Amino acid sequence: MKKTAIYPGTFDPITYGHLDIINRATKIFDNIIIAISANNLNKKNIFSLKERIKLTKLATKNFKNIKKIIGFNDLLANLAKKENTNILIRGIRTIFDFDYEIKLASINKEIYPELDSIFLLSSKKVSFISSSFIKEIAKYKGNITPYLPKEICLELLKKINKNNRVI
Ligand code: COA
Repeated sequence: MKKTAIYPGTFDPITYGHLDIINRATKIFDNIIIAISANNLNKKNIFSLKERIKLTKLATKNFKNIKKIIGFNDLLANLAKKENTNILIRGIRTIFDFDYEIKLASINKEIYPELDSIFLLSSKKVSFISSSFIKEIAKYKGNITPYLPKEICLELLKKINKNNRVI
């Protein structure tokens, strides 16, 4: 039977850090579903859900076994069940991620006991990247090209210039 895994996140926007995890996950599992969270209580997103789906599709267009890219507004565990997968992928960059990820994996298992979280350690060269840092660098006109694909850089700069907003 084919093994499908779900890779969730906010992806505001997708970065080389996420792409590192996706690339490696596509080599381990037959299919990957990328699930983009509509809202996160602690975050104010710069891109709408529709835009984040579009940008994620653009950034992952060369991967062969991405089954689908979906937005969701539900508990992650319920979504995994609905999508018939019991494998959840998360990337871990540093020890600080680990603490949060243990709690997330545990609560997800409470809700859907068959669900197992698989953690991939971020590659060293992208382990310091975060979407918030990139947005901050872009806001102050720093160079963001090392951290995300060119098309996504352009969209982010366009958005920041258009909004001229405080992130
Ligand atoms: N490399 C580099 N950066 C990475 C990364 C990697 N491998 N993986 C994540 N990041 C960054 C992201 O850019 C993001 O940065 P930011 O905080 O500066 O924006 C940060 O790490 C965390 O992002 P993300 O992976 O998107 O996780 P999240 O903490 O926003 O959680 C969900 C997203 C979807 C997993 C979570 O909100 C969720 O499960 N929501 C649904 C509701 C639910 O079921 N909650 C749990 C039960 S109560």
